[in-house]
Amino acid sequence: DKSNKMTITDKHTEQVLEGASKLLHDSQVVGFPTETVYGLGASSLSSNAVKRIYAAKNRPADNPLISHISSINMIKDIFHTEIPEIYKPLIAKYWPGPLSIVLPVSEGCPVSDVVTAGQDTFAVRFPVDKVARALIQYSNLPLAAPSANASTKPSPTKAEHVLYDLEGKIPLIIDGGQCQVGLESTVVDGTVDPPMLLRPGGLSLEDISKIGHGWEKIVLGKKTAGQYEKVRTPGMKYKHYSPTAKVVLFEGFNDVNDAINEYIKKSGDLLDDKKIAILTSRNWESNSFKHSLVIKLGKAGEEIQRNLFAALRDADKHHVSIIFVEGVGEEDEGLAIMNRLSKAASEIIDKNAIVV
Ligand code: TXA
Ligand code: MG
Repeated sequence: DKSNKMTITDKHTEQVLEGASKLLHDSQVVGFPTETVYGLGASSLSSNAVKRIYAAKNRPADNPLISHISSINMIKDIFHTEIPEIYKPLIAKYWPGPLSIVLPVSEGCPVSDVVTAGQDTFAVRFPVDKVARALIQYSNLPLAAPSANASTKPSPTKAEHVLYDLEGKIPLIIDGGQCQVGLESTVVDGTVDPPMLLRPGGLSLEDISKIGHGWEKIVLGKKTAGQYEKVRTPGMKYKHYSPTAKVVLFEGFNDVNDAINEYIKKSGDLLDDKKIAILTSRNWESNSFKHSLVIKLGKAGEEIQRNLFAALRDADKHHVSIIFVEGVGEEDEGLAIMNRLSKAASEIIDKNAIVV
């Protein structure tokens, strides 16, 4: 359903939406579910409101925000912006959904320059989640919303994650259950030629390319590409998606014992009585390490995507000191999964890069 017509059937739901809408019109922020991750929303039209997002999350102010809409018409009716031709086949197929597009800020566009972080473009997403859409529709405001985690922490995929990070800092969290996609939207820029993938996410690069109409030429944005550099100095990168425990990401190891032994050899850390977590997906089956907590991410890309951030938070709850993660190939959902994992990791051990 691509219209903004939605009937609110239940009295309780209506009361929640009414309360949330009142807060939003008062320039306050609200935690709410989307199909990707929970968002921390405020009116995109109010700089005062959007500043509260940055304050609650402790987010650096130079990182722009995505505005969420509940109908395609809002782009014209509220932002006074024409959608560039190139986006039309893409949004016809993938909106509503986990896709954000970058648009030029045209004259008269009322988007706050706190949302754009002073750039001449702004990003828009039409989520599929019913609660998200009902909230936007009910308040009749486009909602600027980053992920509702404390800055640097893994993104929240359950309401309890938002509460854990932001309790006492925001007036309301709407609980809509677990997020179906589990990692953030894909961000594309079609205002440049060739179009660019700025952030891999819930919609795969393959699904975008196959649309044609210019999208087959899509290239990885510089920042996106840079994340795949295999050689990295811990601490040099911008911290993101990081649990308290140290994350070690393995690539190309079919056997978990081989992988962990390689870590021991490399680091000189014998692990001894350390409590560790092992996040397994496609190949790692069992292991003989003591004190280990095994968390299964699932085998299909969709499952891994859905479970990843919650697994990192679970490992922290159990106070492990190291999280060992089985990496996946970078096809389909794998590109976004490895993007998030490589940012969360302080160390990456690639079997194919080991010189014997
Ligand atoms: O799935 C999502 O996109 C979630 C949910 C809540 O919708 N939101 C989210 O927002 O992940 P955030 O703020 O964590 O990430 C926004 C991303 C950043 O990588 C930012 O740099 C990029 O979108 N972005 C926003 N506006 C942009 C612009 N004008 N040009 C380029 N990139 C932009
Ligand atoms: Mg985020």
